[in-house]
Amino acid sequence: MKIAVIGTGYVGLVTATCFAESGNEVTGIDIDARKIAIIESGKLPIYEPGLLELVERNRRDLRLRFTTDMSAVRDARLIFIGVGTPQSKEGDADLSSIWAVGDALAKQLKDLPDEGPGSRVVIIKSTVPVGTNRKLMERLHAAGCKHVDVASNPEFLKEGAALDDFQKPDRVVIGVTRPEAGEVLKELYSPFLRTERPFLVMSLESAEMTKYTANAMLATKISFINEMSRLCDKFGADINDVRRGIGHDVRIGFQFLFPGAGYGGSCFPKDIRAILGMGRQTGTEMKLMQAVDDVNEAQKHVLLNKVLKHFGEDLKGLTFALWGLAFKPRTDDIREAPALTLIDGLLARGAKVQVHDPEAMPNVREIYKDKLSYSERPYGCLEGADGLIIVTEWQEFRNPNFEVIAGLLKQKAIFDGRNLYDPKLLENRGFAYYAIGRGRN
Ligand code: UDX
Repeated sequence: MKIAVIGTGYVGLVTATCFAESGNEVTGIDIDARKIAIIESGKLPIYEPGLLELVERNRRDLRLRFTTDMSAVRDARLIFIGVGTPQSKEGDADLSSIWAVGDALAKQLKDLPDEGPGSRVVIIKSTVPVGTNRKLMERLHAAGCKHVDVASNPEFLKEGAALDDFQKPDRVVIGVTRPEAGEVLKELYSPFLRTERPFLVMSLESAEMTKYTANAMLATKISFINEMSRLCDKFGADINDVRRGIGHDVRIGFQFLFPGAGYGGSCFPKDIRAILGMGRQTGTEMKLMQAVDDVNEAQKHVLLNKVLKHFGEDLKGLTFALWGLAFKPRTDDIREAPALTLIDGLLARGAKVQVHDPEAMPNVREIYKDKLSYSERPYGCLEGADGLIIVTEWQEFRNPNFEVIAGLLKQKAIFDGRNLYDPKLLENRGFAYYAIGRGRN
């Protein structure tokens, strides 16, 4: 099938590449010539494990190409939109890119012949407030594109595991207004549905709402366990044991119940706020979602609060080593990362901060420049530090040499935002060890 994917950001690139990999002829389109030039030079504008190799292979095999020329959509039967929908100043989703793409599409498609339902489908993959797909459809129809179907196909990709999530989805959700659009998308997805994964067809609004509801549920689990972990700290209970204690109940399960320094990234914070925006617009009270957001904002301060409790309010003259800056491992993404809140708090109290992250340092350097010192190696950043703070659970931080750490740190204090270590073991080695919800404040 001939496919166009508009937007070569995270979602667009993964979508374009995986559809090329399954045998389609795909054109990735972006108005940003810089991004296209990066891809054409054999690199990627984002980091995702395995993606570069797949892009390169499909480009070589001529199934995947990139361009800034919007007229490429004229050849495509399916046109996916994967442009950004960032948070606006008011906290709602900013849809200006979606409308701009819609208008550009109308210009290209309006003079093409009507070949019947499902013959040309525009599919929004970006996460958009409920009602957006229908508005896009009305806009396209009003601009002379009555022959174009609009479908919603929310993505459920996790950064760092996006290729697997795309190629082995738990489910594919499609919102349509005419069944033929669902049929052609089912054909497109069939190579990924071999293992009896459900292909769920519903209305545009239900598909849009499915995406928000999934992320809201996941974010709620995180804020829930983070809140319980605070209580654990107060009573000397260990959240790890509690998690095991609840997870065997299959109604609860073990997943997504790891406490930490708060969720970050490009999805959860933005989507929860978009839900709050939809609540405001419709006069629907969203008390739980507000609480999920509030708990998360507070949780981003949990590590700093533990540091202040140990060292006192004034951190002048103290140096801290930070392991992990990305909002989670296996990505260089620092959007809404809890590490940034922590860095701001430490700097504001006069501390010096030395950081290490396997992938995210260039992005952090762009913001903080020489306000931080950057270390290419985890141990390098410990030298002369008064404490080590771990924010992101990269694999290489899981089993460090504590003797080396003790030798490099000026004071043996570890603040572990991801509960990586055994508290007893560290205390036996003479560390002051603070984790999340493991019975110490
Ligand atoms: C998420 C959803 O998982 C995905 O389905 C959706 O399409 C986009 O949003 P992503 O943002 O890539 O994906 O990250 P994810 O792995 O879900 O983690 C989100 C945040 O939650 C991270 O900051 C992570 O550290 C935090 N988290 C996750 C916890 O604090 N505890 C957990 O138990 C799980």
